[in-house]
Amino acid sequence: MAAGGNPEGVDSEMVRYYAARADEYDDWYLRRGRYSHGPANDAAWRSDLEACAAWLGSRGFRGRIVELAAGTGWWSPVLARQGQLTLCDAAAEPLEKARARLAAAGVSAEFQIRDAWREPDRLVDGLFAGFWISHVDRGRLDEFFGLVARWLLPGGLFAFIDSRRDPESGARDHRPPVEDVQVRRLDDGTSLHVRKVFYELSDLESALGRAGFSEIEVVTTDRFFVLGSGRRR
Ligand SMILES: C[S@@+](CC[C@H](N)C(=O)[O-])C[C@H]1O[C@@H](n2cnc3c(N)ncnc32)[C@H](O)[C@@H]1O
Repeated sequence: MAAGGNPEGVDSEMVRYYAARADEYDDWYLRRGRYSHGPANDAAWRSDLEACAAWLGSRGFRGRIVELAAGTGWWSPVLARQGQLTLCDAAAEPLEKARARLAAAGVSAEFQIRDAWREPDRLVDGLFAGFWISHVDRGRLDEFFGLVARWLLPGGLFAFIDSRRDPESGARDHRPPVEDVQVRRLDDGTSLHVRKVFYELSDLESALGRAGFSEIEVVTTDRFFVLGSGRRR
């Protein structure tokens, strides 16, 4: 599936990267192999992840919820316990992992191969995107938040979790992004490019405001993550 904006460039390469990485994606969350940074850093990571889960669980999601760029569905069980969840992703491979995760958790959801840039085909009560905002081009952040607003019913909730810049966040053999593009290596040695943008909290807050959100909150965990939410007016 072609990604919006730049079908022949980094946008489509990102989809290929995550399709190929589906089997090893959770190594990042679980600090396995190349993603381990020693006991102290890994403990800090796990503590921050727990803070994210608690934050997400306390947002007040309800009703119909869409998760864009849902990937392997790490956060999906939290959402599926709060409403009728539809997981969307441009790649089928990570969504298959998500399907297994939700089945193991005993919660149901729908699955859709869908580009995150496609216009909404329904109105929903809530929308979540994990580690997707940092893949959005700086020049398209307003466009994306505008799209999110069009998904939501009045009063609908938007939340996201994303990366803060930290040298112990990614794989040990990854270098930081250059001009918002990062080379990512897979376990088999293949290298692919992704866009990776570390937005300032103030940039996220003001973009949410421009898109018409109220009750805007953009905070961080101790080290690794940024957490954002707002309600459509
Ligand atoms: C960093 S992963 C995030 C996965 C998951 N949301 C999480 O929090 O772990 C990014 C996901 O975006 C998906 N993706 C990349 N480009 C996309 C696009 N244009 N539309 C929808 N999904 C896309 C990838 O397939 C991948 O699953």
